[in-house]
Amino acid sequence: MKDLKDFSPEFQEAAQYYKDQNTPGDQTVLVEFLRETQELFGCIPNDAKACIADIMQVNPALIDTIIKLYPSLCSQKYKEEIIVCSGSTCSSRNSAAILKKLEKKLGIRQGEVTKDGQYLLRTQKCFKQCPKGPNMKIGEQMYHHVTEELIDKLF
Ligand code: FES
Repeated sequence: MKDLKDFSPEFQEAAQYYKDQNTPGDQTVLVEFLRETQELFGCIPNDAKACIADIMQVNPALIDTIIKLYPSLCSQKYKEEIIVCSGSTCSSRNSAAILKKLEKKLGIRQGEVTKDGQYLLRTQKCFKQCPKGPNMKIGEQMYHHVTEELIDKLF
């Protein structure tokens, strides 16, 4: 395991802060720590996970479970997010098939990053643009009335 002193001073400072909190196993604090780590590194690197698990006195596997539960947390760096709406209106308009198509095209499952580090694929419950669904966002660009044909054109 990488020693804490081998990390950046910013991460060392954050780690010391959470160590001083002395809240072993507290999942709310753990999520805060993970968010802060992601802000520092752009993702939650594996060596930092081990260090965080040690400080929070949790099984390292719990960290991976939490990262999967929180779509905003990620273990790998990526350039852009592809977010497919999984809200009820978009779901009734084929958004699950759109997601499946993207998974197949990109060779990843939702919550994962493409091998080239270009895209993170994830879902979001609702973009509050239901009448235009199914909706999808790539980076800052929102797409409405998305079809499988559009996915073929884009990727
Ligand atoms: S359900 Fe998709 S935008 Fe609301």
